[in-house]
Amino acid sequence: MYSEKVMDHFTNPRNVGEIENASGVGTVGNAKCGDIMRIYFDIDENQVIRDVKFKTFGCGAAVATSSMATELVKGKTIYEALEVTNKAVMEALDGLPPIKVHCSLLAEEAIHAALWDYCEKQHITIEGLKKPKSDIGEEEPSEEY
Ligand code: FES
Repeated sequence: MYSEKVMDHFTNPRNVGEIENASGVGTVGNAKCGDIMRIYFDIDENQVIRDVKFKTFGCGAAVATSSMATELVKGKTIYEALEVTNKAVMEALDGLPPIKVHCSLLAEEAIHAALWDYCEKQHITIEGLKKPKSDIGEEEPSEEY
């Protein structure tokens, strides 16, 4: 039911932990299932994500997608990180079962929340970045992936 990559990232998640004095921190929950993800960015003076860590209190798919999402944004600029959608994360994991697609939204929204936090601290804006929701439970994606 799960791809090998999902199982790998679930059993051996990358970039777990936290960053002290992070440049940006984002926390997002899904009230429907009770799962929560927090992501920390260390962003350098060139707006490149130098380091990223996450903590997820959630299901296996949430852990695997969070892990892959951190791998995808590491080394990217804040603008490139905005392009890392839940669809991109799922593709990198060779897919998720349809019933688990919503889990991948936690990572995408947490990335946006951390970017938003960074922008507020730096007094800058990123075009296309919307104020994040703290609860994504009301938003179910279509299952056409
Ligand atoms: Fe809640 Fe997967 S069931 S994130």
